[in-house]
Amino acid sequence: MTTMFDPWILSEDSFDPKKQHHKETVFTIGNGYLCTRGAFEEGYPGDHRATFIHGVFDEVPIDLTELANAPDWLPISIYLNGERFSLDSGTIESFQRILDLRTGLLTRIVRWRSPSGMSATLTFERFASLADEHLLCARCRVTPEFAGTVEFRAGLNGNMHNEGLVHWQWLGQGERDGVTYLHNCTRKSRIEIATAMQITNVIGREIVREAWDVENAPTRMVRLEAAPGQTVGIDKRVAVFTSRDVESKEVVNAVVNRVRESTEWESALEASNRAWTEEWNHTDVIIEGDNEVQISIRFNLFQMLVAAPRHDDRVNIGAKTLSGFGYRGHAFWDTEIFMLPLFNYTAPHIAKNLLNYRYRNLPGARRKAQANGFEGAQFPWKSADTGDEVTPTWVPHFADRTKLVRIWAGDIEIHISADIAHAVHQYWQATSDEEWFIEKGVELILDTAKFWASRAEWNADAHRYEYNDVIGPDEYHEHVNNNAYTNRMAQWNLQTALEALEWLKGRVPEKANELVQSLDLNEERLKKWRDVIEKIYLHIEPSGLIEQFEGYYQRKDIDLAALEPRAKSAQEIFGIEGCNETQILKQPDVLMMQYILRKHYSAESVRANYDYYNPRTDHTYGSSLGPSIQAIVACMMDYPEDAYEHFIRAVRADLRDVRGNASDGIHAASSGGTWQAVVFGFGGLQVTSDGWTTMPRLPKHWKRLAFKFFHRGKMHNVDLKA
Ligand code: BGC
Repeated sequence: MTTMFDPWILSEDSFDPKKQHHKETVFTIGNGYLCTRGAFEEGYPGDHRATFIHGVFDEVPIDLTELANAPDWLPISIYLNGERFSLDSGTIESFQRILDLRTGLLTRIVRWRSPSGMSATLTFERFASLADEHLLCARCRVTPEFAGTVEFRAGLNGNMHNEGLVHWQWLGQGERDGVTYLHNCTRKSRIEIATAMQITNVIGREIVREAWDVENAPTRMVRLEAAPGQTVGIDKRVAVFTSRDVESKEVVNAVVNRVRESTEWESALEASNRAWTEEWNHTDVIIEGDNEVQISIRFNLFQMLVAAPRHDDRVNIGAKTLSGFGYRGHAFWDTEIFMLPLFNYTAPHIAKNLLNYRYRNLPGARRKAQANGFEGAQFPWKSADTGDEVTPTWVPHFADRTKLVRIWAGDIEIHISADIAHAVHQYWQATSDEEWFIEKGVELILDTAKFWASRAEWNADAHRYEYNDVIGPDEYHEHVNNNAYTNRMAQWNLQTALEALEWLKGRVPEKANELVQSLDLNEERLKKWRDVIEKIYLHIEPSGLIEQFEGYYQRKDIDLAALEPRAKSAQEIFGIEGCNETQILKQPDVLMMQYILRKHYSAESVRANYDYYNPRTDHTYGSSLGPSIQAIVACMMDYPEDAYEHFIRAVRADLRDVRGNASDGIHAASSGGTWQAVVFGFGGLQVTSDGWTTMPRLPKHWKRLAFKFFHRGKMHNVDLKA
């Protein structure tokens, strides 16, 4: 079947069980409160069905905490004359799955013949309302080609687990005014959740209707008369609340009321669609002349939008959004460096929520600094609900689970504190939200600076400050000294802190005084900051080439191109320690630093670094964070072919499962990075305090690139034609 290309419709027309988990990730829907993977309503053997709700963490061995896979709102089983519909039996005569990116409506249409020969066309639709984040809707229609009965069993299922680990205790269930509810609680963190459902809009002649009070899986059954060609069906309306939203004693009332008060499918969908239209109004990117990129960029934006917390500033976006079990819902620097620019410029209220999360978690960062013998705020490499470090120290080896591997990132991957400070500054620059910057932003920048000054080591022989024994963003190299990214970003953090303090003294002296007191910013301390800024070690060759870390050039120089074709990362080929001894990069952190601080680097210097580090980077199998930034840097260098090659790798990361691990969830940093690549790379957008300019560098076959962005409260349109 050939269908016309629709730049908003992501679709597939066959079902491949081998790709089931990858496609569950791709067809994730959500509304910024929760996301649900694209598993089937009726189930499929081995599926990784999951709904993750922001902030609903529970304890887990090794990784300390994880987002608990919430009670399942999807179940709808269908029986055709008593025979259960399932794609692992009978014959799939046709299959189509469609995600409408414009509205978040997921549709599946299957023509199926049962083992005993009964055929029917089944249509499933679902959406998570963007207008009411507690509301979820599902619809099922069946057009039988036989006479007899069609039975629907729609339920809620509290027997969910995270790859075997059960987080939920059953607290109760029941029925009120035709609404069925289920009440659960996480075992350790004691977060209560209530889900409720109602079956509405029953189409067809009812034979029987029953409520089955199965413990932890309440189910409603309705059996309808079937006649060939006559469509029957139900709608299922669901609400979800947790004790993070309302008081524990209110969660059940809240869900029951919400289901009772919500409107029918059509108007609920219409309200949600309106919210989506509003959202796309400022987020959409139009690309003409490249269908694949058009749909892919929308897909990446869609996945950002469904994960972005709109009404909660106690949560962050995990490295795998809310779309999979990978990284257990933990957040990294991925948010600040890769995702935040998108929100700064298209949805500043979301950016503010995400930064408030960091502000709220300053106490955790202070605890971490103190525990390590430092001052100020040292943000955790991985962060969850409390703001304390959740990076495990030992994990089982991926290939041999009887062996343990020491994970050092939580101890020494310290650049994240400067990344957060940078994001704070960027938010302020993009939005001019002065109130927030005064209230919270300056403190974040000052307290991270305080950390950097106390972490700096004085090398008396070389007469310089150093950051030794660190991991830079390029994680193929551990325990290195003077990683350029870390040192330069620390220097930037300190410098910006001094400037922010000066600015605040002039703007709101009382607030500046308050911070000087509470953070103990005495003259002696500030003098040390200046000293570190001046004497921090940065190794730059006359050509502008920056050594990634001290001694990097002495590592083995491997010809990566000679290893092609390969389907393994360099780390898998050489081993963790073997890779450490080479110059191969997981991600090119010097280039990332030059991109982040781009106004400080000349084109020659960026070119010298690009030419050196690009061939040494493990592009396809290293980190998914690199390609979008590489694309921007290649644009800055006027290397159009390279730029497109990096970019296409980034936009395809999940749609094509480039690394074979999309089943774990969306590569969120890559998704956020694709927006930056389009806007700052191909569009060449530059925003300064005086205004903005573009420097279009569209790939040859692009006919048009259009996007909008907010700057200091005003929306601007950019429309670039080739
Ligand atoms: C990358 C990190 C990233 C993390 C989460 C790692 O593989 O090297 O830079 O923060 O994944 O996406």
